Amino acid sequence: VFSAIEMAPRDPILGITEAFNADTNPAKINLGVGVYYDDNGKVPLLSCVQKAENILIEQPAPRTYLPIEGLAAYDKAVQELVFGADSAVVQERRAITVQAIGGTGALKLGADFLQRFSPASEVFISDPSWENHRALFESAGFKVNNYTYYDPATHGVNFEGMLAALKAMPQGAVVVLHACCHNPTGADLTSQQWDQVIDAVVTRGLIPFLDMAYQGFGAGIAEDGAVVRRFAATGVPLLVSNSFSKSFSLYGERVGALSVVASSADEAARLLSQLKRVVRTNYSNPPVHGGKVVATVLATPELRQLWEDELAAMRVRIKETRDAFVKKLKEKAPQHDFEFVRQQVGMFSYSGLTKEQVAKLREQSIYAVDTGRICVAALNSRNLDIVVDAIAKVL
Ligand code: LMR
Repeated sequence: VFSAIEMAPRDPILGITEAFNADTNPAKINLGVGVYYDDNGKVPLLSCVQKAENILIEQPAPRTYLPIEGLAAYDKAVQELVFGADSAVVQERRAITVQAIGGTGALKLGADFLQRFSPASEVFISDPSWENHRALFESAGFKVNNYTYYDPATHGVNFEGMLAALKAMPQGAVVVLHACCHNPTGADLTSQQWDQVIDAVVTRGLIPFLDMAYQGFGAGIAEDGAVVRRFAATGVPLLVSNSFSKSFSLYGERVGALSVVASSADEAARLLSQLKRVVRTNYSNPPVHGGKVVATVLATPELRQLWEDELAAMRVRIKETRDAFVKKLKEKAPQHDFEFVRQQVGMFSYSGLTKEQVAKLREQSIYAVDTGRICVAALNSRNLDIVVDAIAKVL
């Protein structure tokens, strides 16, 4: 039964980490995966996380099963973070939130849930989108289409094209939108453009699925989450996946959540009961530690403030790194204009490097995604010159 199984291709993002790990060159640089590194090239362990862990160690608890939907304190804190404690959807108990295995797990729960209750819907993802979106929704059984998004000529959003695509989608289609820090392009919509997108989604009767994996890496926690609240205020059915991998630097703990907005508290209770079946048949219930850490930080005012400060510091370092990157590129490759990198938001730069140029970088042990996406948050004062020199050489 196994003999005819072919080798699957490497994952377009995590496969790069595999190749990077296998590279014996001590000077290797990984600009592939979306992970924030500090200026020393280390993944930070946030102080707010360490302090929360110290609190948890002082209150040792047995590791019993969590409820299927996750830790209640976590679900509540996440819901309030995502929608606002005073929002109508929270006050009227129309929102449900379940702990998930990272943002990817949240997307998969949402996809499986939609497949059960709206199997005829087609899914639309941006062109381009996070490399895993298509595979994930396809594996849940959906036909996945692209909608116009990125314009390589301007390095920004082809907004007219996007709006036209939204208006042409069939009623009931699921539209996956990046709430902030678009992955991979770093090109976000303006507030006025979101107005028009929300209007098109509501008018067409589409099902918005907002993916928010980078809250706090764009303009700020509230600013980056604003679009979720605006969608929630419309009263349309809404799904939101969010992740704390990046914002808490808790990658390996796999802490995320899926929230769904219903039209009434009664409907929400029914949705939760069904979502619990999706969880139960996938992995039964989520792990304890990461959820406890995040819940402790979010519910403890000093730790929450510390988290906000630490997240702001990561955001600021990325912005400064963009500036330094552009400045250096101007020196080393003056005939090329990289000014657009400053306008991009979040961890990534869709650099415009071709697949061939990326392959040439790899010969120098510098790893990027084939599409030309590079993780700006992996650049630092020690590797910046090396990377810029290498880019200038391949251009
Ligand atoms: C990325 O886009 O690099 C991250 O979201 C990590 C991942 O799981 O792909």
